[in-house]
Amino acid sequence: MKNLRKVVFPAAGLGTRFLPVTKSTPKEMLPIVDKPLIQYGVEEALKSGFKDIIIVTGRGKNAIEDYFDYSYELEDILSQRQDNGILEEIRRMPKEVDVAYIRQKKPLGLGHAIMCAENLICDEPFGVILADDIIDSKVPVLKQLTNIAKRLDAPVIALMEVPKEMVKKYGIVKGKKIENRLWEIEDMVEKPDIDKAPSNLAIIGRYILPSNIFYYLKKVKPGKNGEIQLTDALKLYAKNNKIYGYVFEGTRYDAGDKLGYLEANIRFALKSKELKQGLLNVLKKAIKDECSQKG
Ligand code: G1P
Repeated sequence: MKNLRKVVFPAAGLGTRFLPVTKSTPKEMLPIVDKPLIQYGVEEALKSGFKDIIIVTGRGKNAIEDYFDYSYELEDILSQRQDNGILEEIRRMPKEVDVAYIRQKKPLGLGHAIMCAENLICDEPFGVILADDIIDSKVPVLKQLTNIAKRLDAPVIALMEVPKEMVKKYGIVKGKKIENRLWEIEDMVEKPDIDKAPSNLAIIGRYILPSNIFYYLKKVKPGKNGEIQLTDALKLYAKNNKIYGYVFEGTRYDAGDKLGYLEANIRFALKSKELKQGLLNVLKKAIKDECSQKG
């Protein structure tokens, strides 16, 4: 696959799992330490060689557009204060990224969100990042997938083994292993019941998709939860075309879930020299207090 330049970020969801804060703050703007969730995905895309970012937004998501734009007032105040470190940091995103926005006018599912980007994608293969899935890895996961997509000239999706009882939260694939970490996918199903799951290999939110995926997206009927599912379109695609899954190297946090979100915050804060020791002290004290209360 050539010309991998564009990445779609579906970001129109209502963020109901994080209500009430998401009533007025987009879920994608919730902080992991001091950067919004979506920035982790955007940085991963840039580090993977993708230049064009397309964010599919919805009502109440204006904060995302403001974030990736210059903020002249703030910059003026910071430069008067000669606060150059943070000034550089807040200029970095608007300088490095060009973002195109398109609205998903109705919450009709992930597949539908991707379809909204069709006119901006034109006739090129493209990446998809689900910002909720934050992945800490040496080589950015989208880059890991890109390497395979280029080598095999076919679409690739990120996979991770999950405990059997978790399969109902994910798209689950059936396939045959052809190399270390690499699977040729034969079939897939969105959020199956435990007894219907063909494996425990789950789709994680990173995809390299072909431009004709839109043809398949238009063919699928509403599936799980009455939504147009990307998994269903990929399933149709897999019937007549090669598609691969790659068990990525890295640690994934489900920041779309409260516990996963808190864990991501703790883990990323522990990677910061400035915060590590203080946070460890806070955590040790909290654990000690909790244990002594129990006893
Ligand atoms: C989406 C996809 C699902 C995938 C998951 C990964 O579901 O539909 O196939 O396994 O992302 O996070 P969601 O979690 O958005 O409901």
